[in-house]
Formats: sequence, structure tokens, C-alpha cells
Amino acid sequence: MTRPAPIITLDGPGGAGKGTLASQLSEWLGWFLLDSGALYRLVGLRALRDGLDPEVAEDRRQAVEVARQLAIRFVPGGQQGQRVELAGEDVTDAIRSDSVAEAASRWAVQPEIREALLERQRAFVAPPGLIADGRDMGTAIFPNADLKLYITASAAERAERRYAQLSEMGVAANLEQIYREIVERDERDASREASPLKPAVDACVIDTTGESVAASWQKIRDLVAAKGWLPLR
Ligand code: DC
Repeated sequence: MTRPAPIITLDGPGGAGKGTLASQLSEWLGWFLLDSGALYRLVGLRALRDGLDPEVAEDRRQAVEVARQLAIRFVPGGQQGQRVELAGEDVTDAIRSDSVAEAASRWAVQPEIREALLERQRAFVAPPGLIADGRDMGTAIFPNADLKLYITASAAERAERRYAQLSEMGVAANLEQIYREIVERDERDASREASPLKPAVDACVIDTTGESVAASWQKIRDLVAAKGWLPLR
């Protein structure tokens, strides 16, 4: 099978540093970036706004339509390298709230929602290459990817990072509660039947617990350079 462009996948649990590393990599190589979590978050946001409940069959049918017709645009700029627009509305910050993360995780369990987003994700592949960030990029969406990375960190450390991030934003937060939510979400992502969170058999696992972003970035850059891909400049 000929492929239009090389693909690097980054999978792993939320808060492990994947998003930052994926965006750095996309900038360094000058490749496109797919933030697949943003697609699930957009479904979560729309479902919350429309009052859809994943436990109700008719609501699930409507959510599939929502997922199929999401008018998304990723626009260069912003802190994470790109801003997210839904039908012209800038929802970059709105989709980062904990309530949307929770809704996204609940809808991501539904096989028909995953199916509705499948081709849309594959359509992101374009020259010179694609960095795909998510949970099932290397296992389900791009099983033939050229390099698969699995970025992880302990739940305790991910909770601390999220707590620090919220405190910096001036948002009152409870570390214990954040930790519990992270463990619950991990459990849901890893135990679902449809494309559960797990490293691909051929993935390089990078544990960022106790490690600076700079140190993780160095490891990733070495792996990418060993493949012969060169930075943009
Ligand atoms: O990476 P994130 O926190 O933005 O992801 C939001 C939710 O979407 C999270 O609960 C896991 C889910 N997700 C998924 O199931 N598959 C993906 N490829 C990406 C995210």
C-alpha cells in the first residue's frame, strides 16, 4: 500500500505531556498535527450543549450525527500551537474544561462515535507528514504508522501537573479530587471495548514521571532523527 505521507503517532493517558510534545514535534518537522482528543472534546461539548446523554439510545443516534457533521477548523496559533474552531466559534478554551473532558471520555466509549470519527482522522494524512496525538492512533487509526510513541506518567504526577496548571490559571482546585478523576478516566479509557488505551505492540514507551519536558523532548527528537527525518530548519 502506498501512503501519501509518513506518520508518527503519540498515544497515552491524558496529562502525560503528549499534547505539548506532539505540538513541538509538528513544529520542529513542519508536519501537520492531528489532536484527535479535540475531536472527542468537540463531540462532548456539543453533546453537553444539546443535553445529550450517552445512556439514551436516541441521544446516541443524534450524537453520531453531531460527530459526522462537526464543522471543525484547526487554526495555527495559540498556546498549544493551534486554536480550535467549531462552526466559526473559537472553542479552544471551552473544550479544555474538566466538564468537557469528562463528557468526551464518556462519549469516546461509544463504538459508533469512534466509527463516525474514523475516516475524518485518516483524512488528516498529507505531505510532508502527520503527527497524530491520541489514545488509539498507533493501534486503531494508523496501525501502519512509521513511528509509534506511547507517552505515559504516573497518575499522581499527572494530577499534580493539572493542579499546578489550574492554580496558575487562578482556578481553585482540589488535588485529591483531580487525582480521583484522572484514575477514573484512565480506567474508562483503558477498559472500554472499542479501541482501549494501550501501547501498540511496536510502540516506544516513554515514561515522563519525574522528567522535565526538555528531557522527554530530547528522547523523542533522538528517535525521530534516527529515522532520518530532518527538522524544518
Ligand atoms: O487527549 P484528550 O484529553 O484531549 O482526550 C479527550 C478524551 O477523548 C479522553 O477521555 C480520551 C478520548 N480520546 C479517545 O478516546 N481517543 C483518542 N484518539 C483521543 C481521545
